[in-house]
Amino acid sequence: MKDVIILGIESSCDETSCAVVKNGREVLSNVIHSQIKIHEEYGGVVPEIASRCHTEIINQIVKQALKEAQISLETIDAIAVTQGPGLVGALLVGVSYAKALSFATQKPLLAVNHIAGHIAANFLTHQNLEPPFLCLIISGGHTHLVNVKSYHTYEILGKTRDDAIGEAFDKVARVIGLGYPGGPKIDQMANAGSPSIKLPITHLDGFDFTFSGIKTAVINLNHKTPDLDKPDLCASFEKAVTEMLIFNIKKAIQTYPTDKIVLAGGVSRNSYIRNEIDKMANELKIQAYYPEPILCTDNAAMIAGQGYYDYIAGKRADLHLNAVPNLKIGE
Ligand code: KG4
Ligand code: ZN
Repeated sequence: MKDVIILGIESSCDETSCAVVKNGREVLSNVIHSQIKIHEEYGGVVPEIASRCHTEIINQIVKQALKEAQISLETIDAIAVTQGPGLVGALLVGVSYAKALSFATQKPLLAVNHIAGHIAANFLTHQNLEPPFLCLIISGGHTHLVNVKSYHTYEILGKTRDDAIGEAFDKVARVIGLGYPGGPKIDQMANAGSPSIKLPITHLDGFDFTFSGIKTAVINLNHKTPDLDKPDLCASFEKAVTEMLIFNIKKAIQTYPTDKIVLAGGVSRNSYIRNEIDKMANELKIQAYYPEPILCTDNAAMIAGQGYYDYIAGKRADLHLNAVPNLKIGE
């Protein structure tokens, strides 16, 4: 069968990224330009600045991705772009660029759901992984427990009722003075601490999550006891949120038996979470999967990867494509 080469474009938040992926499994290039340094001084992503930065650099990133993949625009089969969810202005830069490129090259346009992209990152890392499986997507914007039935069929079992888990990581890091983005900093600092501080763990009915309670508890604790050991606080926070994640995964496996638990999204880079999920998988005699670290956080290879499955399923977008900031998956 002829190889299918997809060019992916991602601009949903603060990474401008372009990638070239072969057959949904092989990354030929994945150029990621992070705006972290720019947003750092504001303590979080400033949407207007993000859009402007995407506009300034996107053309250069696309050219670089083609160059690194040693592929010409004529050779690609289709252009995949993140349609949503994400920041509307940021998404529009990628969507407008992809539409213009599709029009100029007469190559098909594919609209990819960002969350589906996060899941597809696993197909780039694990060549033999195929649906069905249970997937936990934990990122800065999302916390979803999903029954992935096929490359296009998703049943949402649970999601966060308030903050996304990554938001909680970032907020906790900010109040204890670790800066933005907080997830990697908490991950690092927790290694030097022990989980000795008791924090509230909330279990809801069904498979939904809530992280606002623990976030507020850490903020209050830090306010009342500013000399609290920071590494211990980070370790205790990680332990508590991980317990909440694992509780729901175990509950879901009882109702939806599976031999594969797949993690995705920026927070799945967390070393403590990976460790604990591995332990759980061992105990349940199932297999745990994670994307390689660079494919956990936002990148265009995951968009091109999902784009491949959309392409071979015959899905196509047209030049009326618009960004959808609150685009849902599986609903
Ligand atoms: O998937 P992603 O790049 O963006 C969204 O789609 O939201 O995820 C970004 C999130 C941020 O909240 C960041 O703090 C978190 O992923 N993150 C981590 C780690 N690396 C990134 N959280 C915990 N531990 C990490 N090592
Ligand atoms: Zn993301």
